[in-house]
Amino acid sequence: MTVQKFTYRGSPKGEVFLPGDKSISHRAIIIGGVSDGKLRIKNFSWGKDNLSTWKAMENLGVKIWSEGEEVIVEGRGLDGLSEPSDVLDAGNSGTTIRLLTGLLSAQEFYSVITGDRFLRKRPMGRVVNPLRKRGASIWGRKGGELAPLSILGRKLGEFTFFMDVPSAQVKSAILLSGLNATGPTKVVERAPTRDHTERMLKYFGADIKFRYPEVLLSPGKELRPVDLTIPGDLSSAAFFIVLALILEDSEIVIRDVLLNPTRTGIIEVLRKMGANIEVINYSEEWEPRGDLIVRSSRLKNIIIEGEDVVKSIDEIPVIAVAGVFGKGKLVVRDAGELRVKETDRIRAIVENMKKFGVEVEEFNDGFSIQGGTLSPPREVEVDPMGDHRIAMAFAIMGHALRDSVVTIKDFEVVDISFPSFREKLDGLF
Ligand code: S3P
Repeated sequence: MTVQKFTYRGSPKGEVFLPGDKSISHRAIIIGGVSDGKLRIKNFSWGKDNLSTWKAMENLGVKIWSEGEEVIVEGRGLDGLSEPSDVLDAGNSGTTIRLLTGLLSAQEFYSVITGDRFLRKRPMGRVVNPLRKRGASIWGRKGGELAPLSILGRKLGEFTFFMDVPSAQVKSAILLSGLNATGPTKVVERAPTRDHTERMLKYFGADIKFRYPEVLLSPGKELRPVDLTIPGDLSSAAFFIVLALILEDSEIVIRDVLLNPTRTGIIEVLRKMGANIEVINYSEEWEPRGDLIVRSSRLKNIIIEGEDVVKSIDEIPVIAVAGVFGKGKLVVRDAGELRVKETDRIRAIVENMKKFGVEVEEFNDGFSIQGGTLSPPREVEVDPMGDHRIAMAFAIMGHALRDSVVTIKDFEVVDISFPSFREKLDGLF
């Protein structure tokens, strides 16, 4: 158990490069693993979640190794994975278990996949039920709602899926189950979710067309491996963006970060709150990327709901921190999904905010925060409740407190997505 302390240290300045995007790093290993040869990945994320995907793919027969900072994957082709001799462990990672359940339901062998005590409480029916409709044989606790999941893979047929939960993990699971199917896969979305799977499959030469709300994948085309340089993770950048916004006289530059429009909700929401965030050096290969310049800003609070929530779902904990320093009331609604993330993030935000004397209200599908009501005691102890993003959000809060120290329990949870968080943060002071 590592406890870490955070307090005011002046204004952040300078520039930072961040580790690769977590969602894309998962897909690079998974799609790379079923591609038709060797690829090199630069700026891989190295978070524990990504290492869970790495380990699972190795246990499915894919050779993966590092050379210096680079990761090399030797793909086995669409039908080249082999039956794992033990249970696959997704650790804390929802993306690992859900994407691999899709992939494995179409591989002709038996596999079992599970995860840690947090993951084993998270809903799996959202992938299991549509995959079963497609003809997959999957079993799990509570009728397939909870991991461990056991999967008897087989060739699957064509499938059209109208999504009910807006989830990129579900969409991706269905697409991965269709790569070697006997007919096409069509997915129709209800709200736009991150499209990294579609973009990477296209880049690797799959026969895929996507234009919101539809994705159409035709099977049978081998995936050609392509070397990838993964852009910095915008969800990790979000912590530093809010840090620079809420402190006076800050100016930071975040280099080569992912700017995929399904992920830039955090920038849009913060700009609506009055944030000064500039994009420079924008470029687009298979994913859009660029540099961000962020300067101190006077924030005003707003209502965040609907598609804005879907597009900034992972950043809501740090948006809540921004709300503490904004004028007026920050209201987050339509965010029931936060209850089934790594922890119940609505409860984790509300309970920890109360410790700082912040006026906060809890709703079933969100929360509200009254800006300017902060009155922390000298020492505040934050419990991240096992959640990496809660830990990092409150570390940022600590930097805005001149007379208090924030102690965060179990700080090692940040290793899930951002092991170099503290080092990168220190580089800005
Ligand atoms: C992810 C999708 C999102 C996100 C998660 C990563 C992905 O989850 O919250 O951190 O890589 O596809 P949902 O698909 O459950 O919305």
